[in-house]
Amino acid sequence: MTTSAAAPRRILLGITGGIAAYKAAELVRRLREQGAQVQVVMTEAATRFVTPLTFQALSGRPVRTGLWDEAAEAAMGHIELARWADLVLVAPASADFLARLAGGRADDLLATLCVATEAPIWVAPAMNRLMWSNVATRANLATLVGRGVRLLGPDSGSQACGETGEGRMLEPAAIVEALRGVGSTGALAGLNVVISAGPTREPLDPVRFISNRSSGKMGFAVAAAAREAGAHVTLVSGPVSLPTPAGVRRVDVETAAQMYAAVHASIGDADLYIGAAAVADYTPACCESQKIKKTSDCLELSLHRAPDILASVAALERRPFTVGFAAETTEVEKHALAKLVRKRLDLIAANEVGTDRAFDREDNALLLLWPGGRRELALKSKADLAREFVAVVAERYRDAQRSVAQPVPAAV
Ligand code: CTP
Repeated sequence: MTTSAAAPRRILLGITGGIAAYKAAELVRRLREQGAQVQVVMTEAATRFVTPLTFQALSGRPVRTGLWDEAAEAAMGHIELARWADLVLVAPASADFLARLAGGRADDLLATLCVATEAPIWVAPAMNRLMWSNVATRANLATLVGRGVRLLGPDSGSQACGETGEGRMLEPAAIVEALRGVGSTGALAGLNVVISAGPTREPLDPVRFISNRSSGKMGFAVAAAAREAGAHVTLVSGPVSLPTPAGVRRVDVETAAQMYAAVHASIGDADLYIGAAAVADYTPACCESQKIKKTSDCLELSLHRAPDILASVAALERRPFTVGFAAETTEVEKHALAKLVRKRLDLIAANEVGTDRAFDREDNALLLLWPGGRRELALKSKADLAREFVAVVAERYRDAQRSVAQPVPAAV
């Protein structure tokens, strides 16, 4: 059984001054569709773009705009409102608002609520690309992120001012997806998980490559299950034809070297790494710039070792809990155990592969091994198997955290 990743129930939605304020209307609608109660608080500038009446109609609650509204304060005072929220979401968040938030100001209702709340604060910035890249904005963001404020986006693309670049507010659907599972009590709630999946392709020439039979289905199912369990998931995927699981951040790559770079770019704040990709062990020594012609009866290819992504993550000084997969054709347990030790993993999931087994199938079975333990997960659909797998990984992760947190016994 997994805990469902429901959206937080009581969302205080702050809307600040910017043209993207119109997108907040769609956001309110979508959040309510997820079952959330939404209390809108607008800054004075926001009311210049969209009227409070629009949000009142969509949220089904009177919109709050000022600190000095006696009738509203009598109904629910601002401190009460700050306590009411399970989550504060500011979307769009203007450069000015981020500056005020970073400065701890309490100079309007929304800023005051942010200072007064104990609920997590999420911001979806929206501004011109130059304002977004301005050093003051960057410094304010660094302060906010350092304080635990969560950042949603921004997107890049064409902007209302006619320019193109980074600074567009994330689409409402993407914001809602990102918030799914927040506040969930799932086994991986709030953890950052990086998962690699699918095959890699190592080019020989512009039209040919070396690859393998991995479909990516198991890795994608693990990504979906980790998301369901409340994790923030980054999925680094080789070329596959699978849809991205809801709420998962996906980075597409092709070669082992690209996968290595993408995994390491995301690993900094990862709590767990799950290497489910079938990474090439060898890559052509060089990729011909033109198509290789059949000039002789025999063609020899020179291959070099590809970087071992899993072992490189396990070797990091500040390493995440590291989980590998072992696809074996014989002596599954023996080979998998050897990999667990050789790559210094926290856990390995082994399965038998070969004709008719594991690759591109809807079901699978796994043998999970870790230092001092083992568990067999019987044959079932990859979606159900992934949920069981994630539950065991979460259990082992918590166990590892507990043993790290154990106080060192005093010397006698
Ligand atoms: N792996 C990796 N980078 C590689 C090769 C493998 O990160 N270049 C990871 C896979 O994602 C998987 C695990 O290592 O989690 C096991 O991969 P496998 O290819 O079975 O193991 P190898 O170390 O390559 O051992 P062998 O070739 O001897 O089976």
